[in-house]
Amino acid sequence: MDEQTRAKKNAGYYAADMIEDNSIVGLGTGSTVFFMMERLAGRIREGLRVTGIATSFQTERRAYEYNIPLSSLHESDVIDIAIDGADQIDPAFRLIKGRGAAQTRERCVAEAATSFVVVADKGKLTDTLSAPVPVEVMSFAVPVVMKRLSAIGGTPVVREGIKKDGPVITDNGNWILDCTFPLIEEPEVLECAINSLPGVLSCGIFTEFTDKTSIVIGTPEGVEYLSL
Ligand code: A5P
Repeated sequence: MDEQTRAKKNAGYYAADMIEDNSIVGLGTGSTVFFMMERLAGRIREGLRVTGIATSFQTERRAYEYNIPLSSLHESDVIDIAIDGADQIDPAFRLIKGRGAAQTRERCVAEAATSFVVVADKGKLTDTLSAPVPVEVMSFAVPVVMKRLSAIGGTPVVREGIKKDGPVITDNGNWILDCTFPLIEEPEVLECAINSLPGVLSCGIFTEFTDKTSIVIGTPEGVEYLSL
């Protein structure tokens, strides 16, 4: 296992150990979360009782494989702890997410959660958010949204499938635009501007959960636990 993978595993395992008995757990998406689910599956085998709410088809499939019981927001609209990955994390715990195109469901789950734990390796920490911002958009609205994103200084590109011709289709049936900005000076303002465009489901900037966020940064040797 290489150093980055060990770091992700340490972060994931640490976060899984934060889960208390009888919890409703938001299950994020991505490779670091999968380590959390691996450890959670072990704890369930040892007797821990939890119910998961998955943020993507990929996570759902992994939960079936690991025998992690699943529910939905219809049955449980308050989540005790949501554990998710991130693509970038700034010092104020603002995030860019959505590499896996799952940011809309991830946002819904984070919103419902009492506590939001972000698991990542050190490479995700940054002084300033700068990664391309994934934006989930109804296909119907894509041309207009692209125009509006360009007007606010962005360069949007339709995300193309791999092993699938044409646009990536999200778990919700929409398209993804990856939008580069020369500088993200005020993430809150940009997030709000993008999310209020008609046809946009959600962008990958997450600034509104910082009060309930803690960060588990994995290292090859262990973890660093960060809270504000
Ligand atoms: C999914 O859409 C993303 O928001 C992921 O949570 C994020 O990309 C982190 O993934 P890794 O843990 O695989 O880096």
